[in-house]
Amino acid sequence: MIRRTLTIEVFRFNPQTPDIKPYMETYTVKEVPNMTLFVALNTIREEQDPSLMFDFVCRAAICGSCAMLVNGRPRLACKTLTKTLPSHIKLLPLPVFKLIGDLSVDTGTWFRHLNLKTQAWIHTDKTFDPKAIEERMDNETALKIYEAERCIECGCCVAGCATANIRDDFLGAAGLNKIARFMVDPRDKRSDQNFFEVIGTDEGVFGCMGLMACDDNCPQELPLQMQLAFVRRRMAMTGIFGGK
Ligand code: SF4
Ligand code: SF4
Ligand code: FES
Repeated sequence: MIRRTLTIEVFRFNPQTPDIKPYMETYTVKEVPNMTLFVALNTIREEQDPSLMFDFVCRAAICGSCAMLVNGRPRLACKTLTKTLPSHIKLLPLPVFKLIGDLSVDTGTWFRHLNLKTQAWIHTDKTFDPKAIEERMDNETALKIYEAERCIECGCCVAGCATANIRDDFLGAAGLNKIARFMVDPRDKRSDQNFFEVIGTDEGVFGCMGLMACDDNCPQELPLQMQLAFVRRRMAMTGIFGGK
């Protein structure tokens, strides 16, 4: 079998050395069977250029660290097989997030802000009793919560979102998915009016243009289109009729 030689063009810039302007650097790597983009980048870093910056932790599409633009599309490097790509690959850091260097961006600060802004925790008056038997929940509700909780905060949906690219206060599909998660949770006592105060603006649900790049780009295949429609419907009702 003839193995391809991959040409990998990588964005290079280190904010610590701003005098060196951003540029694209080209590396070549011999493709091996079932090679992921992460493996290709790691090979480059180990054998050709230890200064190359990119993030990874799990290498199994769980931690969300390795997202980057792969030939213009937000993808997880550890989940992307090079055989699914042409032999010329162009890699850029995710837009929207603060650049740390080369392909590494700070999604953590962005998601922390998101979690604080959406108050992503269960709001209840009950005092937690560690000895009490866990409250039961019907399967259908538990599955809806589980589905929304599968988000790994990789930022692919945000990077591909036109609104998030033009306004830095937009919560994006990841934020609206998070709100949907708490809306369906019977333990959370927030009313729709309370949620409306957080997301019933152009920063939230009404800033969404509905073109669904988020849904196309989510590596976890979360049903973002459905979640956005659900939140939008609930918020439209609340806005018009003044809450439940
Ligand atoms: S549908 Fe809304 S949240 Fe999704 S990418 Fe488009 S504007 Fe962004
Ligand atoms: S919704 Fe999907 S694309 Fe967006 S941050 Fe979560 S896992 Fe990543
Ligand atoms: S390294 Fe964890 S998602 Fe890719």
